[in-house]
Amino acid sequence: MTVRFTNRQSATEQSQPIPLTMKAQTIRPERYGQPQSAFALETVHVPSLAADECLVKVMAAGVNYIGIWAAQGRPIDVVALQEKNGESHGFHIAGSDASGIVVAVGAAVDDVVVGDEVVLHCGWWDEDAVSDQIMDISAKIWGYEINFGAFAEYTRVKRQSVLPKPKHLSWEQAASYMLCGATAYRMLYGFEPHTLKAGDVVLIWGGSGGMGSMAIQLVKAAGAIPIVVVSSEHKAKYCMSIGAKGTINRKEFAHWGALDNIEDSENYALWLSEARRFQAEIWRLVGERRNPNIVIEHPGEDTFPTSTFVCAPGGMVVICAGTSGYKGTFDIRYQWMRQKRLQGSHFANHQQCVELNRLITSKSISPCMTRTFDFEELPAAHQIILDNRESVGTFVIRIGSRYCD
Ligand SMILES: NC(=O)c1ccc[n+]([C@@H]2O[C@H](COP(=O)([O-])OP(=O)(O)OC[C@H]3O[C@@H](n4cnc5c(N)ncnc54)[C@H](OP(=O)(O)O)[C@@H]3O)[C@@H](O)[C@H]2O)c1
Repeated sequence: MTVRFTNRQSATEQSQPIPLTMKAQTIRPERYGQPQSAFALETVHVPSLAADECLVKVMAAGVNYIGIWAAQGRPIDVVALQEKNGESHGFHIAGSDASGIVVAVGAAVDDVVVGDEVVLHCGWWDEDAVSDQIMDISAKIWGYEINFGAFAEYTRVKRQSVLPKPKHLSWEQAASYMLCGATAYRMLYGFEPHTLKAGDVVLIWGGSGGMGSMAIQLVKAAGAIPIVVVSSEHKAKYCMSIGAKGTINRKEFAHWGALDNIEDSENYALWLSEARRFQAEIWRLVGERRNPNIVIEHPGEDTFPTSTFVCAPGGMVVICAGTSGYKGTFDIRYQWMRQKRLQGSHFANHQQCVELNRLITSKSISPCMTRTFDFEELPAAHQIILDNRESVGTFVIRIGSRYCD
């Protein structure tokens, strides 16, 4: 698919020389741990380009939970992974969302030119990848499995990761939506026949977060019913302001965590009564006894038993993460008897990124950027998210854009 670029910088911007070095917020193995101390501002070399890559001057970079995984060195040791892939620098530059200006292109790039104002998606795959590219053997996530991500003055991406920046957005807004938005889009539209339809009930965990805020808007825009889980009144208000039909405070329930010891009838009865109380709250918010056709799962261990229980017969639980832990447990009786689908999902393919960008460009949905940080404050921005403080929406780091004021 050809993507049209209509935003172009002036000749002055294009003719700016590219320096040999740049400032970057790096992660090194000896600092793996809390984001506050894992990231450090360093001067490193500007990456060189392969034939199918573009060099982009980063104007703003989005903060995502994936930066926290990279900072912690788990579940993947990102620096060791580079060594395994034959490219070792001793440091990793995370960051999987950005807006910026193309400053150089590889020899094989003929549809992106220097001066294009762009947003970047984090899908990285070979030119001859299968059509659902994120399923290809070559698929990786830029900024996580691929070094020289967005948290630097310059970044390098595959040509196919470059999309036009919506003109009505600031640099910061443009850097805030692609990773979570395209992931939510795939979860809702990527798995036939369980694709989002008007009138569907959709349960969304962590509704005020990056994924949740995009999912709420996508569900609402389709004429479906977003029922959202949060952990505070403040977050509930935010979710209602962006289109939730109703919110449930998970702090009012006590059955979270892995579903252990299912044979212990007393223990199981306690779990079941809480799960049923949670389900009744969904029905109350929907206004009738209807279970979610789709459940957008990402907390994982704590919530997976409930997700699979409340999902409608013939419905789908679609999961893209295990933030609270990787031990996925559930009562399989409800799965086979009610014929529910459990579906894994990871980022998005190219077309899904294009579709998400189209919805943003047409203002059908909006970026949920709520706060900007200076480049030096990048570790603190990640720490706030890890600590799950009262943050809502997404955070963005001002890099090149701070010189535009
Ligand atoms: N595979 C992929 O392609 C992909 C793409 C995007 C994101 N992800 C992953 O998805 C996860 C969420 O990302 P995000 O950007 O939405 O993060 P986020 O902005 O930090 O939001 C996550 C939300 O989850 C909720 N939460 C946290 N712990 C929970 C628990 N134990 N039980 C229930 N809810 C809990 C919190 O909301 P409340 O406290 O209000 O409930 C929090 O706001 C992360 O692990 C991220 O890495 C994966």
